[in-house]
Amino acid sequence: MDSISIEIDGNIVNAKPGERLITITDREGISVPRFCYHKKLSVSTSCRMCLVDIEGVPKPQTACSTPVSDGMKIHTQNEKAKASQKAVMEFLLINHPLDCPICDQGGECELQDVAVGYGSDVSRFSEGKRVVAPSDIGPLIQTDMTRCIHCTRCVRFGSEIAGIMEMGGTGRGEDLKIEPFLAEGITSELSGNMIDVCPVGALTSKPFRYELRSWQMASADSVARHDLVGSNLYAQTYKGLVKRVVSGDNELVNETWISDRDRFSYEGLAHDNRLLLPQIKVEGQWKEVEWNVALDFAIKGLNKNALNSRKAHKLGGLASSTATTEEFYLMQKMLREIGCENIDYRLNINNLDDPIHLDSNIKLSDLECVDNVLVIGANLRLEQPMINLRLRKAQLAGATISALNVKAFDYIHKTNHSTVSPNEIATILAGALKVILKNNSLEAPSYIANINPSELSINLADKLLDSERSVIVLGEHVINNTQAASIAQMVAEIAKQVNGKTLNVTSSANSLGAQHAHFLPKNKGMNTNEMLAADMSAFLLLDIYPEYDFHHSNSAVEALSKEDVFVVSLNSFNNELVAQYSDVLLPMAAMYETSGSHVNINHDMQSFAAAVKAPEEAKPAWKILKVFADLLELQGFHYENITQVSEELKHQKIYKYKQDIAIELGKKSSAIETIWMHSAYHSDALLRHAKSLSSSKIGQINSASMNTATAKELSLECGNTYLGVPVVVSDTVADRCVFVSSNKSTHMGRES
Ligand code: SF4
Ligand code: FES
Repeated sequence: MDSISIEIDGNIVNAKPGERLITITDREGISVPRFCYHKKLSVSTSCRMCLVDIEGVPKPQTACSTPVSDGMKIHTQNEKAKASQKAVMEFLLINHPLDCPICDQGGECELQDVAVGYGSDVSRFSEGKRVVAPSDIGPLIQTDMTRCIHCTRCVRFGSEIAGIMEMGGTGRGEDLKIEPFLAEGITSELSGNMIDVCPVGALTSKPFRYELRSWQMASADSVARHDLVGSNLYAQTYKGLVKRVVSGDNELVNETWISDRDRFSYEGLAHDNRLLLPQIKVEGQWKEVEWNVALDFAIKGLNKNALNSRKAHKLGGLASSTATTEEFYLMQKMLREIGCENIDYRLNINNLDDPIHLDSNIKLSDLECVDNVLVIGANLRLEQPMINLRLRKAQLAGATISALNVKAFDYIHKTNHSTVSPNEIATILAGALKVILKNNSLEAPSYIANINPSELSINLADKLLDSERSVIVLGEHVINNTQAASIAQMVAEIAKQVNGKTLNVTSSANSLGAQHAHFLPKNKGMNTNEMLAADMSAFLLLDIYPEYDFHHSNSAVEALSKEDVFVVSLNSFNNELVAQYSDVLLPMAAMYETSGSHVNINHDMQSFAAAVKAPEEAKPAWKILKVFADLLELQGFHYENITQVSEELKHQKIYKYKQDIAIELGKKSSAIETIWMHSAYHSDALLRHAKSLSSSKIGQINSASMNTATAKELSLECGNTYLGVPVVVSDTVADRCVFVSSNKSTHMGRES
């Protein structure tokens, strides 16, 4: 039977056999009170608030756990149901404090809402209430556990979704407490979701504590821009300031969860370091000026240094990958109009002659349906938390996950880790490809003819051949591998041979938007590294911070600081190095302060409107670029609003990389290999200025990990530093490799 009929409150309703009653009442818009039930978590039936009356069943039943059958007659509002619900409410309120006036959850508290409908205005309980001391679980979540109603949503979120059960119940009966198991508090990269799922004010946002009431804030739909996922979220604002960020619902993107970096990065907007006024450098001294003076100064400088003397080929345009697609589009359009093809957003890649070209051809929502995953070069949990969450679901459903990494990272799900040096990855993949081709009765190409597949290669190949829905995830640690392009090419070939999919997470933020907008050098234009090495006369820079953004940070600062190079910088934060080399500083709006779009890994262009106005004189970069083009008297920039820019760029054909490159397995380094990554909460300017994230456990990560033998070879031990980063000796790192995860700038460090 595909469909059955049941009766709810006298109305006939269709349902699937065995469907849970609460799912049907929710679908039909019938209100049933609840606390412990959450559509994304398992059913715990711990609060008893959802009691309903089922004809023929003597006692009331919980709607969240009762499966329906044909002909069932249910009453959610009759006297028996209401009496049961009221009785449960009375029990819940026995120990709940009456501190709603000072509780941050006030106005959005499920207990408060349900108490209005099902509670009594007079309490029959006159004994003292139970008190539970709050626990300090870190800088992101405030606990007030006296308010806890033991619904266990936070506990189930940890064990079922986040993959680390950090909260749990201790004690029995009246002594039952929900608390963190470990004194170090909560360390999950998804911890903020516990605030969203907690129905009362037991877990609230620490950075938002005592700021405002929920009804005082406006809420704007927005999109996170810290990774390629583009999680949907709401920016909640008050008097022109973003006060809190909460998750939005989009089953195809982030379901209903967001990472902590997406939730708490807004704090950076209010940092003292914001660039607020246009400034020009006159005789080495910075001077705050009006916009028209700064723009005039910038145009004159660009004209003098590059444009008037027909030296547009000596002008360079570089942008951060966090820019909006519209900003990328306008900047490249303007630069190309004035004859400049030196355009790039790829700042952190050592070798741009041979970059990674790999399509992502699997949807985020399909990741949880794969049966075999091979991850190459990624600390997924911290670098791609939302993708890791989907893969964890796949693993729990039975998928096998294997990882080739320099270190055995904690992925919070069962993974077959193989710790290998970056040098070995290409050979391992070549071996696997050879096995797969042989299995498919195909001839091996010349570049793998001499490869003798290792046991690891055979094992990986067998898993890929045995699976029906596999995906190979290529991670960010591969970008500066000397064989990066060949690795990407082999990944594509292996996936093709096993009918699998590929997911390329080697770039970040809105990199796909940059490609979509053609923010790349064409027609013999120079790439980032070529610009830094060339004799340039001017640069236009969009939200760049050289000590963090460039792989060649020292060369970048040197190239930009040359006496005769004129530099116009659009930035949202002030920065010592930027001030050192720039001639004009134009304050630009940051995330949440500008409208535009972000292209995510599904290739969906997700638009968002500004949630707040940029502070003081800062302006959205698309407006600055438009006025710039007008002042340069360029045609085709008569945009009245951002929608016109978005519409125009939608007609632009997507930039396609050349896919066929010659695979080369010869280039191997014999030196100790270092993979340098910014730690998860320091990967872009807004994150770096978000105070609470920086003080969290993940934000504090600053380590150069190496195994005992490598430490010995380098004459280092715990407590020493390697490239300025504290050494951690761990035998989970591959031999003759160092994995650096740093929350400090790379200037003077990484480049060697
Ligand atoms: S802290 Fe909140 S989510 Fe966790 S058990 Fe208590 S009431 Fe439920
Ligand atoms: S919601 Fe059904 S028992 Fe809690």
